[in-house]
Amino acid sequence: MYEFGINTSAPKSELYREILRSADALTACEPDSVANMANVAALLWEYLGDVNWTGFYRMVEGELVLGPFQGRAACIRIALGDGVCGAAAASGVTQLVDDVHAFPGHIACDAKSASELVVPIIRDGEVIAVIDLDSPTLARFDAYDAAGIEALAKLLASRI
Ligand code: SME
Repeated sequence: MYEFGINTSAPKSELYREILRSADALTACEPDSVANMANVAALLWEYLGDVNWTGFYRMVEGELVLGPFQGRAACIRIALGDGVCGAAAASGVTQLVDDVHAFPGHIACDAKSASELVVPIIRDGEVIAVIDLDSPTLARFDAYDAAGIEALAKLLASRI
């Protein structure tokens, strides 16, 4: 059993430092990418409050395919450029969306989702996956969350 003792009400900078440390410890010695994504999805689910989906989409033959996640069952395949995930994968740029209903082409996997943060994971200049976080609260994610998840994406680039 893994007990990391993260204080979920800690300031965001501290929270992401802890999440990164825990993700590093969980993935450092494990070469299996599914195992690593599954554990990181669980870590994000447990320690980020006010989220209804945390997980991964992987780039497979030019489209995004659902990876390990926590939350409700979600759409399986997303074309590049479609929705928030497809926009992040196509551009290689983090998508911080305060109101998903105002995002053109947003894919509503869970009607409860109101805001979303999607961060690409880039290896050797190629997007290999995205980390997707959804929240039922408008503007749940801010620049601190984006920076924290970008640091996590960097860590995972060689571990998934
Ligand atoms: N809302 C996403 C689709 C994935 S789900 O949120 C899990 C999108 O618009 O790309």
